[in-house]
Amino acid sequence: MKRGGSDEQKRRAGEAAADAVDDGQVVGLGTGSTAAHAIRALGRAVDSGLDIEGVPTSYQSRELARDAGIPLTTLDEATPDIAIDGADQVADGDLIKGGGAAHAREKLVDAAADRLLVVADDSKLADRLSVPVPVEVMPDAREPVAARVRELEGDPELRAAERKDGPVVTDNGNLVLDCDFGEVDDPGRLAADLSAIPGVLEHGLFVDLADAIYVGTDEDVTVREP
Ligand code: A5P
Repeated sequence: MKRGGSDEQKRRAGEAAADAVDDGQVVGLGTGSTAAHAIRALGRAVDSGLDIEGVPTSYQSRELARDAGIPLTTLDEATPDIAIDGADQVADGDLIKGGGAAHAREKLVDAAADRLLVVADDSKLADRLSVPVPVEVMPDAREPVAARVRELEGDPELRAAERKDGPVVTDNGNLVLDCDFGEVDDPGRLAADLSAIPGVLEHGLFVDLADAIYVGTDEDVTVREP
């Protein structure tokens, strides 16, 4: 799915982060249009002799990695040295992710990695996190979770599928509530509150996980370290 700034900005960010991967590393492979550039760049590097293994974060990233010729492994077999992943919004190094409904596996892999490199175009940067927070819920939990989100002063909306009638169903067989909290004053607190709701598999607030943000602009890439 295409979101955010230009593809050229995304390509610059993705390729710069791929350059930071060293021979012999296990690499978490993020989801989305920006991480896809990193995966393709890593595939070209593998063609040229780079020895890595990838841990995909979604059906999409697994397919891209297979097409690119990147050998794959799992968290059962290996711990990622580094992960490269996109974001829907970045503020003070904290992220909102899940625009592609892949945030549960993304968080699993990104948090397991020694280092997380976030790749984004500059339209994703904000002073405060404010886009709706995707919350993946078990299908039976939709209404109770929505009620609790309203108590937390959020406005939950079931994500509808495109080119399919009915809701988005995640790679894990769950539903997504996009929860609008307006500007998030305390991302750590909201993250803890959402994680505590029974029936929530995972939410898209990534707090204190990013080690570097690669921001693609029309001219170049800047690297920010939170
Ligand atoms: C997938 O669920 C998301 O977390 C993506 O990583 C995020 O939406 C960024 O995607 P783009 O790079 O396509 O903007």
